Amino acid sequence: MPVEKAEFRRALGHFAAGVTVVTTKLATGDIAGITVTAFSSLSLEPPLVLICIDRRARIHDRLEKGGNFAVNMLEESQELLSRRFASSEPDPFREIGYHEGSTGAPLLQDALATVECRIVDALPGGDHTIFIGEVEGSTVREGKPLLYFRGGYGQVS
Ligand SMILES: Cc1cc2nc3c(=O)[nH]c(=O)nc-3n(C[C@H](O)[C@H](O)[C@H](O)COP(=O)(O)O)c2cc1C
Repeated sequence: MPVEKAEFRRALGHFAAGVTVVTTKLATGDIAGITVTAFSSLSLEPPLVLICIDRRARIHDRLEKGGNFAVNMLEESQELLSRRFASSEPDPFREIGYHEGSTGAPLLQDALATVECRIVDALPGGDHTIFIGEVEGSTVREGKPLLYFRGGYGQVS
């Protein structure tokens, strides 16, 4: 028998996660982004990462169509970006510094690290889809990560 939803959420909320904004670019030139903590490294050879995206999220079908994504690992001062990309705002990129990487997916200014990926597989996972990306490029900079823990934002002290 599956665990109660509230109990499940409470337990999972105790896993301290780094916060990312996943972005993508479509063939039409449109860009999209979403706040994601369900991100993980998957394989070293070949270099693979995975993200889990709610099938109801606006970006879901765009990821399938675009075939690319970038993971922007947020720096501790970027809580507002996390909130913005988790909201229903029509244009979360408004007045935000970014440039398009080699896949076209936006790389956010001042992100702690980024990885740029081509989608090589998409697997069903309950009400989410697991998108697997082969990493084509990455960046890192000095700084500390933004964390999410027990329903709130936190920092490494
Ligand atoms: C800290 C945080 C982490 C989140 N992690 C995920 C995630 O891993 N996968 C996901 O599909 N949604 C995640 N969400 C929810 C989405 O960001 C949010 O539902 C989405 O932006 C709604 O997009 P839409 O209005 O375009 O459908 C997270 C939200 C927050 C605040």
